[in-house]
Amino acid sequence: MKMIHSYWAYLVLAMLIIATVNAIIGLTQKKEFKDKDLRISLFTLISAHIQLLIGLGWYFMSPSYKALKEVGMAEAMGNSDLRLLSVEHPLMMIIAIVFITIGWSKHKKQTSDIGKFKAIAVFYGLGLLFVLSRIPWSHWLS
Ligand code: HEM
Repeated sequence: MKMIHSYWAYLVLAMLIIATVNAIIGLTQKKEFKDKDLRISLFTLISAHIQLLIGLGWYFMSPSYKALKEVGMAEAMGNSDLRLLSVEHPLMMIIAIVFITIGWSKHKKQTSDIGKFKAIAVFYGLGLLFVLSRIPWSHWLS
């Protein structure tokens, strides 16, 4: 489960970067919102939702959750590594995926190309920032 979550993260991160950059380019160059743009945004949404399910599944089996239960919330908060893995990372990733989902549904309600690109650029961009801020980089890349 940990391995799947760890490898799927490359796909989510890559798609999130591609979708955000693609929307910013579309917005600034006033492009038409085409099928390709819809597919990029949709694939990013789906990959993020799959990661949410894998993450939730892994969370309750993870050593971090076990440690959190053992030492309690107050003590876990005092340990930066345990706090990141058991509280900050899961919480921030859920918020990021909420932003991405809001971006997707807002883009659908827009009638103009600029409106669609803007919704994706803003909300996927916020999601990307949240993801980047609380990925356990040292665990992932070591
Ligand atoms: C966009 C969504 C997410 C991304 C990109 C992401 C990415 C990652 C990465 C790269 C790692 C490190 C893997 C490693 O050590 O090899 C990790 C660990 C972890 N993630 Fe996520 N994650 C996401 C969402 C979630 C969610 C929603 C949860 C739970 C609710 C979650 C729970 C965990 C847990 C429990 C760990 C491992 C902690 C440990 O090593 O004990 N993740 N995640």
